[in-house]
Amino acid sequence: MTARAPGKVNLSLRVGPRGPDGYHALATVFHAVALDEVVTATAVDGDAVTVAVTDEYGGPVAGVPGDASNLAVRAALLLRDEAGLGSAGAHLDVRKAVPVAGGMAGGSADAAAALVACARLWDTGFDRDRLLVLAARLGSDVPFALLGGTAIGTGRGERLAPLATAARRLHWVLALSATGLSTQTVYQVLDDMRAERPVRDPVSDPRLVTVLERGLVGALGLLVDNDLQDAVLALRPSLRQTLAAGLDAGARAGLVSGSGPTLAFLVDPRRATPVSRVLARQPGVAGVRQVRGPAPGAALVG
Ligand code: C5P
Repeated sequence: MTARAPGKVNLSLRVGPRGPDGYHALATVFHAVALDEVVTATAVDGDAVTVAVTDEYGGPVAGVPGDASNLAVRAALLLRDEAGLGSAGAHLDVRKAVPVAGGMAGGSADAAAALVACARLWDTGFDRDRLLVLAARLGSDVPFALLGGTAIGTGRGERLAPLATAARRLHWVLALSATGLSTQTVYQVLDDMRAERPVRDPVSDPRLVTVLERGLVGALGLLVDNDLQDAVLALRPSLRQTLAAGLDAGARAGLVSGSGPTLAFLVDPRRATPVSRVLARQPGVAGVRQVRGPAPGAALVG
């Protein structure tokens, strides 16, 4: 069984105070983009759940665990427990297109795709709502990888309200970094930066919601924001130059994706190629991708 799930950017990411569980209250607008993780689950003899991780072309990928700490394996094991299928085994082939530790929730997409593929492989009969509950236990971004599209996220990011965006597509150029950032570290740096200031409960900008519903792409560029951006830029100062270069080349907006270090540039489709060319020449940029959104959530593909 094969399932795919999308990576995401956050059109807005507003971060409130850290709660007693160590997680920050969020008000975010998730937006799934057409950069897919693909997970193939195969039945095996015995009760082991194993994983092999490659890039889109079958090559090796650094920085992703190949053991039981892999989020796709944890997803399969949680599903197996909840379905009472203690002896079912599986091998998971994970093909990654989303950058590792890049702020685009690639690991969460792996988990979402693994849930969908294994639910069918093992015939659990779990519907999407049941899988969403399991997804929230695996990570803050996993429910959105199941849902896809564009959605407001609150709580830790796991409480979702889908947004009916106007049919128009958004075009993005992504500037990838060779090495990722730890989400936990980025949140810690933000806390340190705000230590002396009161931190309010986060609220999404209602204008952003209106602009999305009406498909006003020009205005959207003025409303995207990310409270984690300053923390990411403090950890990776060279990204400032990359952001400026993308904007100079004609992007409508540029921002850090989630907890970074991937940068997402909103572009008019005619500017996608010139912006990509300029970004590809920037120091520290390991690759450039052009993607569209919104993309659908996790689904079986075979
Ligand atoms: O939920 P997930 O495991 O993806 O989160 C990774 C890390 O990001 C957490 O351990 C936490 O440090 C940080 N985080 C946070 N507040 C959130 C989401 C994540 O502090 N709402």
